[in-house]
Amino acid sequence: GRVAVLMGGCSAEREVSLRSGQAVLAALLRSGVNAFGLELGPDALAQIMAEPMDRAFIALHGRGGEDGSIQGVLEWLRIPYTGSDVMASALAMDKYKCKQVWQGMGLPTPASALLTPDIDAQTLVERLGLPLMVKPSHEGSSIGMSKVTSAEQLAAAYDEAARYDDRILAEQYITGAEFTASIVDDQALPLIGLKTTHDFYDFSAKYMATDTRYLLPCGLDAAEEARLQQLALEAYKAVGCEGWGRVDIMVDEQGQPWLLEVNTSPGMTDHSLVPQAAAYAGVDFDTLVLNILATARL
Ligand code: DAL
Ligand code: MG
Repeated sequence: GRVAVLMGGCSAEREVSLRSGQAVLAALLRSGVNAFGLELGPDALAQIMAEPMDRAFIALHGRGGEDGSIQGVLEWLRIPYTGSDVMASALAMDKYKCKQVWQGMGLPTPASALLTPDIDAQTLVERLGLPLMVKPSHEGSSIGMSKVTSAEQLAAAYDEAARYDDRILAEQYITGAEFTASIVDDQALPLIGLKTTHDFYDFSAKYMATDTRYLLPCGLDAAEEARLQQLALEAYKAVGCEGWGRVDIMVDEQGQPWLLEVNTSPGMTDHSLVPQAAAYAGVDFDTLVLNILATARL
């Protein structure tokens, strides 16, 4: 049947999605799949209804594409799609709600608070300490995110995040090392350690910098890596994720892991992490794309 690669969309991660989508489409075509790209805009619903498709590969990131809304459209149209269902997508897209689920299940995630425009910086700093991270609750690729090192910086960080979202999250900053666990077909791939020269793994470290280092092997001993892979799978399942995804984790200086977030439609660009982890495990990009497509379901 015909496979549509859904890309673009209207979120702040549109450009990243176009890069993911083009890479996925090229891989499917190289493999002889009857695939076409569908660059979604504001009238995504009409666009999807107008195009006959038998399956959808979702290469959308962020709101509208990774948050359950497109997934709901595809459910109504009875078109199998890659990745998590409506509920898990929506939950994973809201970092704050997702953290509450993890906390409720006893899984470790940094302390956090929802911010309001009249935040009392002093109270917040007493609660979460410094530095702290300020993030839009529903964004990806570190868009709108700031590291705050003094109470005076909080208002500016809030305003920056508020450009993208009306739910703003402050989160305790974990000093340590960042790792990401890619999950494909509900199996964890080797972890990647992330080393950036930037203050944190921000948008430009993710997509522009040439000096971001991706550690593969990740630098942990085998038992420690296995423990983090297990934690990532638990976190992924706790949210109800299916098919594939990527769990971002900080490990503090005492070796304690902290879950940051789960991405239900991870990047597939040439800088992205899931393709690197798969390659290290001996799975080339084209095979990875076919493996993800094979998980498409209703
Ligand atoms: N949100 C980006 C696309 C990622 O997690 O890879
Ligand atoms: Mg994300």
